[in-house]
Amino acid sequence: MLVAPSVLSADFGNLQRDIEAICEASCDFVHVDVMDGHFVPNLTIGPVVVSAIAKCATKPLDIHLMVENNTFFVELFAPLKPEYISFHIEEEKHPHRLIQKIRSLGIKPAIVLNPHTRPQAVEYLLENLDMVLLMSVNPGFGGQSFIDSVVPKAKKLNELRNEINPNCLIEVDGGVSDKNIKLLKDAGVDVVVAGSYVFNHESKKEAIASLKV
Ligand code: DX5
Ligand code: ZN
Repeated sequence: MLVAPSVLSADFGNLQRDIEAICEASCDFVHVDVMDGHFVPNLTIGPVVVSAIAKCATKPLDIHLMVENNTFFVELFAPLKPEYISFHIEEEKHPHRLIQKIRSLGIKPAIVLNPHTRPQAVEYLLENLDMVLLMSVNPGFGGQSFIDSVVPKAKKLNELRNEINPNCLIEVDGGVSDKNIKLLKDAGVDVVVAGSYVFNHESKKEAIASLKV
């Protein structure tokens, strides 16, 4: 299992210390939640802060957009050269076009599905995607409880991607901990995002290691 700690739960007064700690604790990606106060009822960080994060991170960035104007934000964050940019399918009229745009900028494109969105929504996009992110909470806040229905949903998506594009990763975001990691692994999930679980743990190393099943 690959692990992407969510910076949303870091101590923003000690951002450099916390980013360095998760990178030294062998995380695989640094997950960055970008919220615009419109698509979700919360507002987080923009390119100034994300650029500061990129400077102290020794692991690639996984940028999760929770915004209304996806194209605007893709252009804003592309110069920071993240590994992935993911956008919500619920907020995009032309997902296929945006996938092509992200790839043309040298970034791996990913699509996010909210808890209610069927895995079949990405069926005809899978061949062009590097990752599909399944939300296991309603987007907007860290520290929420895990929604169990993501497990059968991940199993369905796993069947689809094995058939269409086995190279496309499945990521799950929200309420992930040592309590549900085994279920996610068995469902075919490749990457987990964990915010409060990692940052509330005194030893980031132990917390990350406990998710690498
Ligand atoms: C929620 C974000 C998540 C969140 C995860 O909108 O996408 O990345 O920070 O936090 P936990 O692991 O605390 O649920
Ligand atoms: Zn996220």
